Amino acid sequence: MADIKVLVLVGSLRAASTNRQLAELAVEAAPDGVDLRIFDQLGELPFYNEDIDGDGVAESVKALRTAAAGADAALVVTPEYNGSIPGVLKNAIDWLSRPYGNGALKDKPLAVVGTALGQYGGVWAHDETRKSFGIAGPRVVEDLKLSLPAKALDGRHPRENDEVAATVRDIVGKLAAEVN
Ligand SMILES: Cc1cc2nc3c(=O)[nH]c(=O)nc-3n(C[C@H](O)[C@H](O)[C@H](O)COP(=O)(O)O)c2cc1C
Repeated sequence: MADIKVLVLVGSLRAASTNRQLAELAVEAAPDGVDLRIFDQLGELPFYNEDIDGDGVAESVKALRTAAAGADAALVVTPEYNGSIPGVLKNAIDWLSRPYGNGALKDKPLAVVGTALGQYGGVWAHDETRKSFGIAGPRVVEDLKLSLPAKALDGRHPRENDEVAATVRDIVGKLAAEVN
């Protein structure tokens, strides 16, 4: 059977991003038969504008929609910015929500996790990401959750934290199991 493909979107562009590290852990923790790929061009997407959507859309948008169309599921890994979704991620949601009613992630299972500095680990951003993607087309798997206060990582890569690694492995496995 072909591998289950999971598109991974990271809501931070920072080189030393802890969310990027969490996404790397998810890639490493994937069970056999599950292939996670981090999409690296979120920072290249133009701001969503209906005037530039349609034929002749930017290469980065084409790349995002092609990656999403080829995926069976999606995992979003994001920090919280000012109590909400980082703009780069919200912009990607808007691009993926079109064509209206027929976006490339339509009906595909999607889970949201992440880490942030605050004591609630970015839970507002994660809840709002679920809400927004829930409107944009994917099937949000509400009970696959991780809002990790950065303090728990103690400055280390998340792969060095056994509890976090086990949680991420469990979420990736359960997300893959949601693929029909
Ligand atoms: C513009 C900005 C806004 C932020 N707002 C929040 C916030 O509302 N809640 C929070 O917990 N952390 C907030 N932070 C701190 C981030 O959680 C922290 O920088 C985190 O490490 C970013 O994720 P990254 O390591 O993946 O880049 C903010 C950081 C920035 C740069």
